[in-house]
Amino acid sequence: MINSVNFIHKDHQYKSVFFETFGCQMNKLDAELSLGLLQEEGYRIVDKVDEADVILFNTCSVRQHAEDKVYSHLGALKILKKNHPDVIVGVLGCMAQKDGEAIFKRMPHVDLVCGTRMFSQLPELLLKIRNHGSHVLAIDENQIVNVKRVVTYRPNIYQAFVTVMRGCDNFCSYCIVPYVRGREISRTIADIKEEAQALVLNGCKEITLLGQNINSYGKGLDGNITLGDLLSELNDLAGLERIRFVTSHPADMSRDLIRTMCRLEKVCEHLHMPAQSGSDDVLKKMRRGYTAGYYREFVRYARELIPHLTVASDFIVGFPGETEEDFQETVRLMEDIRFQNCFIFKYSPRTGTKAAELKDDVPDEAKRARNIKLLELQKHISLEENKKIVGKEVQVFVEGASKSDPNRLSGRTRQNHIVVFNGSQELVGKLVGVVIHEVTDLTLFGKLTSCL
Ligand code: SAH
Ligand code: SF4
Ligand code: F3S
Repeated sequence: MINSVNFIHKDHQYKSVFFETFGCQMNKLDAELSLGLLQEEGYRIVDKVDEADVILFNTCSVRQHAEDKVYSHLGALKILKKNHPDVIVGVLGCMAQKDGEAIFKRMPHVDLVCGTRMFSQLPELLLKIRNHGSHVLAIDENQIVNVKRVVTYRPNIYQAFVTVMRGCDNFCSYCIVPYVRGREISRTIADIKEEAQALVLNGCKEITLLGQNINSYGKGLDGNITLGDLLSELNDLAGLERIRFVTSHPADMSRDLIRTMCRLEKVCEHLHMPAQSGSDDVLKKMRRGYTAGYYREFVRYARELIPHLTVASDFIVGFPGETEEDFQETVRLMEDIRFQNCFIFKYSPRTGTKAAELKDDVPDEAKRARNIKLLELQKHISLEENKKIVGKEVQVFVEGASKSDPNRLSGRTRQNHIVVFNGSQELVGKLVGVVIHEVTDLTLFGKLTSCL
């Protein structure tokens, strides 16, 4: 475990870092914050492992596949480490938290295992390895993450993620997150506002608030604070144009929050609110705390107040005991809600969770077939919904060059559609009007009409 390290000085020889991140937005933001800390210490970021003095992976444990990918990357570094024993190899994040010491046993060439609540100590941990040369394990889950964010270290000047709470207390039966991210802790509004203000002063126009279960923001803070209160405060920040938040949980989502969204002009008309299944039996076994009927009714209410609201979801197929009839209920929910887009996952048992005690009895071919069926259905729905936008003008926040065609610009509508159009680079970071001419299931194509 870590001792206090008073011998740190900034001129150490480890100056270049390769960093790869797996998993969700929260992990990506933790990677950004970690890299910020290292850059403050004089590290240079490199994009090739063989140019790096320090190689770090920020890992995910949500499905077996995510872990397999990291172990295979680590395995591939064995030879590099043999030829360059001074290079430090580190595993950070959720898999580090979950597997701990076992990572050293399986991959003895790994030097550092640093859990989800310890990354603020990265510079000190790396120095410890450099000075003592031994395996360092830092996975204390009761730490409070306290990172002094240096807002200038951001991949995108105009957009930023801000963590408003860490951890999850929901314990959905299939999910490893509460075990690897620990109990829910909300940051104070004052703290978040200070960070948001610094980001805006640094040029940020759009902020996405992050929390695994963001609707329970405020739990444990003094004075019955809610996500609505936080959104109201941030809405007042001059210079900020748009506010988004993820991920919403249907059971913790409130009608009050919908009314607040309605009132606040900067909060975008989009919800990522994973339904996970359309079958009440499966939802019960998943310990989700709502029924498909409740979900439908909630979305109906939200759309009544916010007519242009788009809703995105996650679904898990092949949960233990999921019958063909259960699956058809999921199909029906997808057809009824007409989501903007969906992430579909094949159930992956996670040791230690409640669901892992159930037999993983849906054969892989059935999981695969259900996955494909939902993907196809969603693609069809997305295309039909996008076609309704043809001929209309939408407000777009310009994010940068389009990935598929660097000569064109790409941005997003308030409802989170991706829009591609012709325009000059000077428009990046601005709000513009675009008339939509053509669509696919994933993208809207249009013509620039105005700078707003
Ligand atoms: N906090 C978010 C998302 C957490 S993980 C939420 O509550 O919605 C992202 C998604 O991974 C989940 O929404 C779920 O669809 C999926 N997921 C989580 N555990 C899984 C497992 N064991 N197998 C397959 N998919 C899983
Ligand atoms: Fe996992 Fe459920 Fe928490 Fe989301 S709400 S992180 S699915 S336990
Ligand atoms: Fe994965 Fe951890 Fe996020 S398990 S989904 S990286 S919270």
